[in-house]
Amino acid sequence: MLQELDQLKTEALAEIDGLSGESDLEAARVKFLGKKGSVAAASSGMRDVAKEDKPAVGQKLNEVRTAITDALDEKNAALTAAKDAAAFDGIDPSLPGRPIPQGALHPLTHVLDNAVSVLRRMGFALAEGPEIETEWHCFDALNTPEDHPARNESDTFYFENGKLLRTHTSSVQIRTMETTPPPIRIIAPGSAFRRDEIDATHLTAFHQLEGLYVDENVTLADLKGTLEFFFRELFGSKTEVRFRPHFFPFTEPSFEVDLKLEAPGKAAKWIEIAGCGMVDPAVFDAVGQTRDDEEYSPKKVTGFAFGMGLDRLAMITYGIPDLRLLIENDVRFLKQFA
Ligand code: DAH
Repeated sequence: MLQELDQLKTEALAEIDGLSGESDLEAARVKFLGKKGSVAAASSGMRDVAKEDKPAVGQKLNEVRTAITDALDEKNAALTAAKDAAAFDGIDPSLPGRPIPQGALHPLTHVLDNAVSVLRRMGFALAEGPEIETEWHCFDALNTPEDHPARNESDTFYFENGKLLRTHTSSVQIRTMETTPPPIRIIAPGSAFRRDEIDATHLTAFHQLEGLYVDENVTLADLKGTLEFFFRELFGSKTEVRFRPHFFPFTEPSFEVDLKLEAPGKAAKWIEIAGCGMVDPAVFDAVGQTRDDEEYSPKKVTGFAFGMGLDRLAMITYGIPDLRLLIENDVRFLKQFA
């Protein structure tokens, strides 16, 4: 019996040593150590061994089992190591990694994110509308007369079907009121388009942020408080904010908002930053006409609206001298805001 076991060990170790694949290795494990394998068969032969020989045979059996197990483990480790080495063939893992260039947010995105986060804290929800608009949403419903200069072909991009590229985000005021009953408190950042000559302060495609709050008893004090808080969050708590009477067709009264700001190294001066006002009852009437209900009856609700240029906000925030820098995608410029 001892001799047989020695022979089993020798054969098994030789066979395992010659293996070259993982599946062969598994087959060998079953063949030698499995329930019906050679070691199990030898073990059941113990029954016939004379009592006085049992300890020696038992010991030998253990020795054989351990030797086979170790051989299988070693072989497994060797095969894995060979596979790993093959995977690295032609690659030098000690070389330093290649740096992955990291992008950064565009200055306009920074300004937009800041503005939106302040207004969201004040309870304004995001709204949107199409960039290709109808004359109704861009002008008529906003109480803009037929002969208003903004409606000229020379100022607005028209399509042949009569639609146009929205000249301001104020159209989202109408879109939102048409679909949503009051109270509403929304902001709508987005692109707007005008047929301007491109220069340091004009682009044909630019960005605005619109705001609208409609409820019962919304007052001019709410408008002032909201915009003062907003601009002081963006430019510092001591920032002076001035409301200067102005005219917009869709608000009455209307104002332009100025901030007193210092450009680096220069004396503080008033800078125009936004338009705003109390929603004109004619706008509510136009919305009521589409909705065919009284939800926005000027007898029931009042509201304020405001709009500002985000590109201009970025210029002021970062001291950018020329709007065109925002669209040229010159990495030397953009890198400064990373
Ligand atoms: N839509 C105006 C513009 O593009 C800006 C504006 C002024 C928006 C007054 C408003 C507002 O909501 O109340 O010049």
